Amino acid sequence: MEKLQAIRGMNDILPENSLSWQYLESTFQRIVKRFGYQEIRFPILEHTQLFKRSIGEVTDIVEKEMYSFDDRNGNSLSLRPEGTAGCVRAADQHGLLYNRQQRLWYQGPMFRHERPQKGRYRQFHQFGVEAFGMSGPDIDVEVLQVAAMLWQELDLEEFLVLEINNIGSAADRKEYSKALREYLQSIEGQLPLDDDARTRMHVNPMRVLDSKHPGVQAALGDAPVLYNFVNDDSKDQYEELKMLLTASNIDYVENPKLVRGLDYYNNCVYEWTTDTLGAQSAVCGGGRYDGLVEQLGGRQTLACGFAIGIERLVLMLDTLHKIPEEALKPIDVYVACVGENVTEQALALAQAIREEQPDLGVISHCGSGKFNSQLKRAFSSGAKVAVILEREGDCNAPLQTGKIRRLDDSIEAQTYEIAAIPKKVAEVLLN
Ligand code: HAM
Repeated sequence: MEKLQAIRGMNDILPENSLSWQYLESTFQRIVKRFGYQEIRFPILEHTQLFKRSIGEVTDIVEKEMYSFDDRNGNSLSLRPEGTAGCVRAADQHGLLYNRQQRLWYQGPMFRHERPQKGRYRQFHQFGVEAFGMSGPDIDVEVLQVAAMLWQELDLEEFLVLEINNIGSAADRKEYSKALREYLQSIEGQLPLDDDARTRMHVNPMRVLDSKHPGVQAALGDAPVLYNFVNDDSKDQYEELKMLLTASNIDYVENPKLVRGLDYYNNCVYEWTTDTLGAQSAVCGGGRYDGLVEQLGGRQTLACGFAIGIERLVLMLDTLHKIPEEALKPIDVYVACVGENVTEQALALAQAIREEQPDLGVISHCGSGKFNSQLKRAFSSGAKVAVILEREGDCNAPLQTGKIRRLDDSIEAQTYEIAAIPKKVAEVLLN
């Protein structure tokens, strides 16, 4: 019978790769804890309407990329394409946003029906942080410090560039959209637009700016510039943001073309990009979204945050060999047991080592076998040390001694009293 395969663009993460993921996840979780952020978990499925109202009806994500279906009751549901909408829905629904500041983080799978390639998948994973109830730019800088500390701890700082832009308020963008629409209409004849793009030009002209078509980009040369429509308060805040970034030793470059692919942003937006991944260069994206809570039916709530693409970060860590060797070795000790009636003692000794040394990974050999084949398994497990309980002959009395052998050099095995082995193992591992 033909074997079934995973869905295109949806990856299995196998044991050898999951070590990199665990290293990254634990580093991220340690950092957000140090900044006082608390975890929130929310469903993978939400009402389709939630994403339409937040991300925007006329965006690539909502128009082309969502996994949407009607459930058995006829409700339209969608797999979440990002985390911000669900986070806001959950936090508001449970009263976490009313008259309060909140610092939240989440991680988990997201789904977008994009064309899969290196670094771009249909199921991918994000870490996100969202901060509510603060006007910035202090909180924007704090959120960026979280990302910057992550790059620092992962030793990726030199491979990432922070690009920032100020896209002004919703009202500014409305004015700008009007001007841009008029401009696009005036050059409509020169624009190589398909039907979709033509609809966009009328409904959401800023999305025409994202077009990857060289002909469209060429025709946009004299288009009005968003910055000229941005209000003075927003400009002042942006200046202060830049000052605070400099004071916090976070380098940035300004990119006036950065508008982001989701509609909910205002004022400062940013992306951390890298040239180590090929075409999929954005590792982290975010900004302020002060209108979103209200847009989803809540009270006006100041908000900002970002999300990091975990696959892209794992790819960076792997290709740049930045995962510490320690993190890639889950097994430290392999307890081998050879001969008759040693199983009970071997299980007890492995357990005693785990209790004495809670940070070690200890495998107790199962399934009997000759000395050499057990040692082979010990080597292939990646353990640094083998503990060997070996009975020669067929006596029933408990063994008094066992051996410890380092597996990374040719030093002979040393014999110890069994009761002393759990402590000795740690010493041998340290030497
Ligand atoms: P986003 O820019 O759409 O923003 O996604 C954030 C990150 O997720 C990207 O920079 C990228 O690393 C990763 N990513 C996106 N699509 C894919 C894909 N198909 N395959 C692999 N990785 C991908 C958001 O999602 C916003 N919710 C961020 C945010 C949080 N803004 C405010 N708070």
